Amino acid sequence: MARWNARKTIVAAEDMAPEHRLTPSLSWPHLVALGVGAIVGTGILTLIGVGAAKAGPAVILSFSIAGVICAAAALAYAEMATMMPASGSAYTYTYAVIGELVAWIVGWSLILEYSLVVSAVAVGWSGYATPLLEAVGFPHLLTQSPELGGVVNVPAIFIIAVVAGLLIYGLKESATLNAALVLVKIAALVVFVAVTLPYFDAAHFDPFMPFGFPKHSVIVPDGHPAEVGVMAAAAIIFFAFYGFDAIATAAEETKNPGRDLAIGIVGSMIVCVVIYMAVAAAAIGALAFARFANSPEPLALILREIGQPLAAKYLAVSAVVALPTVILAFFYGQSRIFFVMARDGLLPQGLARVSGRGSPIRITVFTAIVVAALAGFVPLAELAALANAGTLTAFIAVTVCMLILRRRAPDAPRRFRTPAAWPVGIVAILGCCYLLYSLPQRTQIWFVCAHIVGLVIYFAYGARRSVAGREAEG
Ligand code: ALA
Repeated sequence: MARWNARKTIVAAEDMAPEHRLTPSLSWPHLVALGVGAIVGTGILTLIGVGAAKAGPAVILSFSIAGVICAAAALAYAEMATMMPASGSAYTYTYAVIGELVAWIVGWSLILEYSLVVSAVAVGWSGYATPLLEAVGFPHLLTQSPELGGVVNVPAIFIIAVVAGLLIYGLKESATLNAALVLVKIAALVVFVAVTLPYFDAAHFDPFMPFGFPKHSVIVPDGHPAEVGVMAAAAIIFFAFYGFDAIATAAEETKNPGRDLAIGIVGSMIVCVVIYMAVAAAAIGALAFARFANSPEPLALILREIGQPLAAKYLAVSAVVALPTVILAFFYGQSRIFFVMARDGLLPQGLARVSGRGSPIRITVFTAIVVAALAGFVPLAELAALANAGTLTAFIAVTVCMLILRRRAPDAPRRFRTPAAWPVGIVAILGCCYLLYSLPQRTQIWFVCAHIVGLVIYFAYGARRSVAGREAEG
């Protein structure tokens, strides 16, 4: 068997066989758009309601906790992405810095993250699209997963098929369309804040923390147990903040990675934190949290409740038009992770072949089928929680890699340096661990099961065939 701790050598794109090479076509405005496009989505539009149900008005505190942890991890990401501008992000860094087995675990976490985010956002999209579709006679049973009383979520499957088609058509075209749709999404959130501000009532913030701080179980009025608290909400709300890591997966396709990746990652993170704080404060100030908690379209509901139906329609239409940018960014990242893992020999190499347009078609189609099946049949909160577990694992790995390299190669050239690397790194690692702990117990069990399956696949396939492992054995 190949060595499990083999480390991968980063190969410059120009040294790679043509059929395994991705075309560099992106620069920083594309990346900021890709970042904001990936970050602002179902988290702020829909999960704000799930968070409010778990934390009350203190969901705003959950937003800031998740934001600080994410920002710390984003800095580590920017440093690693500019040191190793190769496709595969957290997986590739771990492979080069720690070794193959841990890299596999991280890669598997990323596959879980990216595919579940695609599914979760497709379900969030369906939440805003459903009222519009039902108005023209679309059957309700075909808009919900079985657990929520439907048969299958057809709109969610539909939107995944559309995005898969765009990716197969070609990256450049999709990235430009993405930039236009990002503007639609930001405009909708700005309108939301502007329309709700006159209705701001500070009394809605009292009591501020009705469910306490740490995660704990309670029996909710419908008789089911639920995990509540500011941290339980932060562990879900965390979903709203990531996406900048999707930029790092575009490294090999970036024209000037040293400059563009750092601007793309840090810039898009800052833009989003500012927007979220404003939206969360405006939402809670406008309406008592219990009235929009757990709604499939909370922001539109708030606008309707304060007597602004036109603004509610505008927001819903904007969400329907623009949420696909999030799906696009994660779909893109997902196909690249598969692609790189296949190129490394950890998954079948046939999957790594790219088409004439530089897009890996087989992987895209395969991914589309899996994520569409999940989106059709699993509820949003469960998909989001499991996606978060995968992301948190990847963030921990990236930050650990950043700190290891600061020790192992202190003088290596770094085009972006994390400020106060050790304190920031420790905040990121401990923060991510606390968020992992604060996820629902059911999610934690699923996550462990998913990794057991992953390890079986690794030892049955990847460990024998990996390129790095074979090189290490000579
Ligand atoms: N941050 C992304 C969203 O909220 C995943 O949809």
